[in-house]
Amino acid sequence: MSAPFIRPYRPADRDDVFEICLRTAAGGGDATGVYSDDALMPEVFALPYLEYAPDLAFVVDDPSTGSGPRGSGRRVLGYVIGVADTRAFAEWWNREWGPGFRERHPHPGPPTGRNPGFTEAQLLDAGVHPERMLIAEVDEYPAHLHIDLLPELQGQGFGRRLIDTLRAALAERGVTAVHLGMDAANTGARAFYDRLGFHELPSSRPDAPLLGIATR
Ligand SMILES: CC(C)(COP(=O)(O)OP(=O)(O)OC[C@H]1O[C@@H](n2cnc3c(N)ncnc32)[C@H](O)[C@@H]1OP(=O)(O)O)[C@@H](O)C(=O)NCCC(=O)NCCS
Repeated sequence: MSAPFIRPYRPADRDDVFEICLRTAAGGGDATGVYSDDALMPEVFALPYLEYAPDLAFVVDDPSTGSGPRGSGRRVLGYVIGVADTRAFAEWWNREWGPGFRERHPHPGPPTGRNPGFTEAQLLDAGVHPERMLIAEVDEYPAHLHIDLLPELQGQGFGRRLIDTLRAALAERGVTAVHLGMDAANTGARAFYDRLGFHELPSSRPDAPLLGIATR
């Protein structure tokens, strides 16, 4: 059986990325059923990235899981996605992504009784206000990223290698630094970023950590 490996994203991976995003979106845990529509998290934190910058998306492909029918045959178990220029991405989002998002999600759905990091109303707001991405340090750290691995892939070094892969791709494009925002409750992810050498940005807050790192 061949081992999982990192490769560039392909359009056929989209459903797997959707599901990985959903299953890791509640502070690193499964967010299935947390919102009235399971598409909300992926539509804010994964799918627009795949559409805007598919060349800056990398996945972990596990050939041993790819042969079954849909549902039992997930092939991709983790990803890193990013954009090189957050300002340009926010402009694109306003033009191309926001209007469709607003149509698909005009109002918050009924409360599900779960207790997510984001309320549904906040998530809907995030879907139509990409200027939230324009952090104070955006010119110094123009790129940003999201990374998610299913539990079965975690703790084997793939997260580190995915980040290295994206940093190298950004450096090749002349981008010198990348940032990310995270859920303060996700202590595992914070330990991971600290270990990789990310540092807190000046505008980082305890309730909304912002981390950055040079691409090389
Ligand atoms: C956070 C995440 C991306 C880390 O990826 P990973 O493949 O599990 O991490 P790695 O195995 O590459 O670990 C890299 C280093 O970080 C350390 N590390 C990773 N997770 C850690 C944790 N929870 N606590 C302490 N250290 C940790 C490892 O010990 C390792 O150190 P080393 O390279 O010096 O041995 C992954 O666990 C994940 O996707 N979690 C769920 C979704 C999530 O939280 N995404 C981030 C949202 S901001």
